[in-house]
Amino acid sequence: MNDAIDFDRYDRIRPIRWTGDALELLDQRKLPFAVEYVRCDDSDAVAAAIHALTVRGAPAIGIAAAWGVVLAAREVEAGSGVDALPAIEPALQRLNAARPTAVNLAWALARMRRVLAGAGSDWREVLAREAQAIADEDLAANRRMGALGAALIEPGSGVLTHCNTGSLATAGFGTALGVIRAGVAQGRIDAVFAGETRPWLQGARLTVWELEQDGIAPTLIADSAASYLMKTGKVRWVIVGADRICANGDTANKIGTYQLAIAARHHGVHFMVAAPSSTVDMDTLTGDAIEIEERDPGELFAVGGTRTAAERVGAWNPVFDVTPHELIDAIVTERGVIERPDEAAMRAAFGG
Ligand code: MRU
Repeated sequence: MNDAIDFDRYDRIRPIRWTGDALELLDQRKLPFAVEYVRCDDSDAVAAAIHALTVRGAPAIGIAAAWGVVLAAREVEAGSGVDALPAIEPALQRLNAARPTAVNLAWALARMRRVLAGAGSDWREVLAREAQAIADEDLAANRRMGALGAALIEPGSGVLTHCNTGSLATAGFGTALGVIRAGVAQGRIDAVFAGETRPWLQGARLTVWELEQDGIAPTLIADSAASYLMKTGKVRWVIVGADRICANGDTANKIGTYQLAIAARHHGVHFMVAAPSSTVDMDTLTGDAIEIEERDPGELFAVGGTRTAAERVGAWNPVFDVTPHELIDAIVTERGVIERPDEAAMRAAFGG
């Protein structure tokens, strides 16, 4: 088995482009049938794009928000970072309010706030350098996680993933999808199954399209086929990303992740969470304290713009759930692997 990974072959898409004076976001609402970038010239346009899922995925929305701060800086006259802070803060608050569950958003904004507070007259350049560093570090973390996570997978394995955790959701390569890419490159994974991920269909519209760019042929399944798939013995690992990992290892991720973890435990299938350390939130003690985003119930009434439910029905549309740490076999970050995560193991790895 060759453990080397050809990152150029397995990572071809970039959802976020900084042009030097504007932010371009690959419009994920239109994929896979149109590959179009939306231009954001100010921070409110970035906040709106995050809310609308033009850009999505926990690391990607953190990176986009960081560039949003760089755009907000253009509206402000100040001689130093600390002088600029009060004028920029409202824009930071609006970016932060765009989506509540992924901690990467608040984490990136806190990082931008911190460097701004310490910056001198070159504070605009300092902000731009920090946004670029957040993106660069994310890509490096994903590549490292890919190798660490793949090492847990026995050759000849099938895997199941959920939502989209690839290049589209990050600075590149992906988290769970990075582990899968690395596992395929190393000959450990011979079958990749992707759940559709109702209602927004990140799996059907994004993940299978992204893997096909790499020459990996995934098998799409209905979310409701997951337990039966596990029963057939075709998958050894469920591999997912995360939007927030708490101090005890409880993990928020796309709605449907929790039921996959329950089904995996029942069938003796291993369950891996892959996420950068920027997704770890040691200030949130357990999953019960995580705010779960609820979106427009209208997302449930139609598929591809065609109404599928009768008029005047009600619907409930939480878009994340929390998987208790007891159901997770391994949390993989760029800092290492935590097997059977609990509060003690998380504190040993991340302090706090
Ligand atoms: O609503 P989304 O598409 O932003 O949700 C994304 C997910 O739940 C991902 O699994 C998570 O953000 C990790 S992305 C590397």
